[in-house]
Amino acid sequence: MQNPTEMLHPDTPGFERAADILRSGALVAFPTETVYGLGADARNDRAVARIFEAKSRPHFNPLIVHLPSVDAAKKLVEWSDTANILASAFWPGPLTLVMPLRQGHGLSPLVTAGLSTLAIRLPTHPVAQALLAAFDGPIAAPSANPSGQISPTTAAHVSQGLTGLIDAILDGGACDVGLESTIVGLADTPTLLRPGGVPSEAIAQALGAPLADHDSDALTAPGQMASHYAPGAQVRLNATSRHDGEVLLGFGPTECDLNLSRAGDLVEAAANLFGHLHALDALGAGTIAVSPIPETGLGRAINDRLRRAAAPRG
Ligand code: TXA
Ligand code: MG
Repeated sequence: MQNPTEMLHPDTPGFERAADILRSGALVAFPTETVYGLGADARNDRAVARIFEAKSRPHFNPLIVHLPSVDAAKKLVEWSDTANILASAFWPGPLTLVMPLRQGHGLSPLVTAGLSTLAIRLPTHPVAQALLAAFDGPIAAPSANPSGQISPTTAAHVSQGLTGLIDAILDGGACDVGLESTIVGLADTPTLLRPGGVPSEAIAQALGAPLADHDSDALTAPGQMASHYAPGAQVRLNATSRHDGEVLLGFGPTECDLNLSRAGDLVEAAANLFGHLHALDALGAGTIAVSPIPETGLGRAINDRLRRAAAPRG
């Protein structure tokens, strides 16, 4: 089913229109500081089901619920002292907490894919906050890209992947962080479920203890599938030179087709990662080779996305 997708401006009429579309059970893509999200009313089964349909996303992969305030979070999950520490340090911002669901939460069961935990986050992007305020309810939103493909950091990326499949896109320019949120599980010992926009070192410092590592066999984050964030091209990691038929995505002072950060700055590299992958993919090369990226700070999240982009496709 192809429908025209409305482009909305990030102003009061745009926010009101977007909130009305959400209330009608339809889908609106919107910018967050990490990547664009594909939003639906998290209490409406049909609306949430449409997210899975538009993205061709497997139904066992649960969604993050976006909220305007800690008070709103406390109505949905069993809040805790640890959550308080992390929320005070990093919210609003690129951190998602996975916590035990509260009785009477009122959310569609499709949001959690039947799990007894819920992923929540308070975005800091002013457009996301304005939409949450206008809608005045919980917004379920995965990244606004077809499942398994490169995440969107501009409205144009969203439109390229989902136009005709979703109802509207709120255009808020390019996302600052450029990588999805860090996901921390708090149902048990604080555990890193996905590296992302907040470096795990900063979280460990706030908690006064390192995060436990995610046991990948346990599949508590079903979205952590090996092949993900994949461009059309193959991806070759830790490349120190460009082979025939390749384009090179560089890092640091190197001769390349596009550079994540000539200065070797990981924050700049994170912000450029998905945009540069989209741009190199559009050149139609068979393989995107990528320079080595240090495994510290945001480098961990960058390498996580690159390993999945390079993984054998299912
Ligand atoms: O930055 C972000 O987190 C972006 C923006 C739009 O907020 N969203 C995002 O959503 O990256 P998505 O759906 O692409 O990734 C969410 C991840 C998935 O890997 C999913 O499996 C995991 O969160 N997740 C959701 N609920 C969970 C839960 N209850 N337990 C464990 N993992 C969960
Ligand atoms: Mg995603």
